[in-house]
Amino acid sequence: MSCDVAAEPIPGLTPAHGRSAAGFGAAQGISVGALTKAYGAQVILDRIDLDIAPGELLALLGPSGSGKTTLLRLLAGLDSASGGAIRLGGEDAAGLSVQERRVGFVFQSYALFRHMTVFDNIAYGLAVRPRRLRPSKAAIAARVSELLDMMQLPGFEKRFPSQLSGGQRQRVALARALAIAPRVLLLDEPFGALDAKVRKDLRKWLRDIHDRTGLTTVFVTHDQAEAMEVADRVAILNGGRIEQIGAPGEIRERPATAFVRAFLD
Ligand SMILES: Nc1ncnc2c1ncn2[C@@H]1O[C@H](COP(=O)(O)OP(=O)(O)O)[C@@H](O)[C@H]1O
Ligand SMILES: [Mg+2]
Repeated sequence: MSCDVAAEPIPGLTPAHGRSAAGFGAAQGISVGALTKAYGAQVILDRIDLDIAPGELLALLGPSGSGKTTLLRLLAGLDSASGGAIRLGGEDAAGLSVQERRVGFVFQSYALFRHMTVFDNIAYGLAVRPRRLRPSKAAIAARVSELLDMMQLPGFEKRFPSQLSGGQRQRVALARALAIAPRVLLLDEPFGALDAKVRKDLRKWLRDIHDRTGLTTVFVTHDQAEAMEVADRVAILNGGRIEQIGAPGEIRERPATAFVRAFLD
């Protein structure tokens, strides 16, 4: 897979469709304060503080069960917190629905709709909008086509998911997440099910897409090489707390805790 496509912003929906922003507007930061999630007496996330800069690509790295998916689901609005606050672009997210938060997400297990073509999968988030917010058919088709070009899958509109490789499917899933012009992009082990070679290609390619869209991105992984290669900063989670956050080189050179040192070994 080549990543040599010119770095040009893709044009988005026009203001005539009720949106002011083009495809990807000004990046928005994420600010999390004392965020807590508990199930009964079990504390899953323990007063997490985390600031993600606009346009940053942050990796959440940690062992299985450390709370990565829980944190991502809270950011997306798929679950509600037991305490603390989330601000998206400076706005308190507490009262916002999943749709209102305008987050794009891709999960490892978040399968494409099997009975729908690639076109319909990518168009889904736009096609289900209420009429007054829905772009015209032509605008949706243009958007899908732009995204397929960006994903280096031109001409794939009529295929079904069963006619795609695993890597191609995850690229379609990413196109679907981007179609709604999200404010932030959340990725939960999106390459987890793929083989090593494809994962490596997709890593570079994800970084390229991130740089071209400028979207604030949170990327969950349990694979330290993946986190270190792709991210601007890495947050290491353990037992619902952030053990350390910093640039990859910084964490490698100066692990802050015994856990981090052992985890990176
Ligand atoms: N709905 C739930 N009810 C009870 N416990 C849960 C629920 N969802 C997750 N957990 C627990 O929260 C912890 C963190 O899970 P998760 O966020 O999925 O971790 P990770 O993504 O880092 O593997 C685990 O111990 C898990 O069993
Ligand atoms: Mg998980």
